[in-house]
Amino acid sequence: MFTAEYWADKLNLAPHPEGGYYRETYRSASIIPSGVLGEEYSESRCTSTAIYFLLGQGDKSKFHRLKSDEAWIYNSGGSAEIFMLGKHGLKIEKIGPDINNGESFQVFIPKNVWFAAKVTRGDYLLITCTVAPGFEFNDFELAESQKLVNDFPDYRQIINELT
Ligand code: GUN
Repeated sequence: MFTAEYWADKLNLAPHPEGGYYRETYRSASIIPSGVLGEEYSESRCTSTAIYFLLGQGDKSKFHRLKSDEAWIYNSGGSAEIFMLGKHGLKIEKIGPDINNGESFQVFIPKNVWFAAKVTRGDYLLITCTVAPGFEFNDFELAESQKLVNDFPDYRQIINELT
């Protein structure tokens, strides 16, 4: 029987600042010079990176945003709801293997959108996350609860739960 603890140990995962557990598995050796990237990048970035990311039942991936789109790709376990807050208001997507019931193997989170997730079916969710240009913590921002509520007062409940 696979569990969150099994995968965290087997894959040597460490706690992520947003919640859950991760390990970087790929970092491209090719570098994109800063002049070629958008203005939001003051330094060069590698072409792309990938991580394992694990959420256990009751864990939260807290609201955060990135400067680039991120792909979440299902690997194992149940499913999670991904909450995205942007110009469109709140959008919820489900990542998981039950594609006949509204889940998807792949979910793409647009850049600059605040997003958070929690496991809604099963004991855990194991996914791969990729971002291009490659991930740097300088491009990652965790939300402050009150600021996010001020910007999205209609979604106070989910913000309070997942910040
Ligand atoms: N490396 C460290 N944290 C992250 C993350 O949240 N996403 C991606 N794609 N890579 C990371």
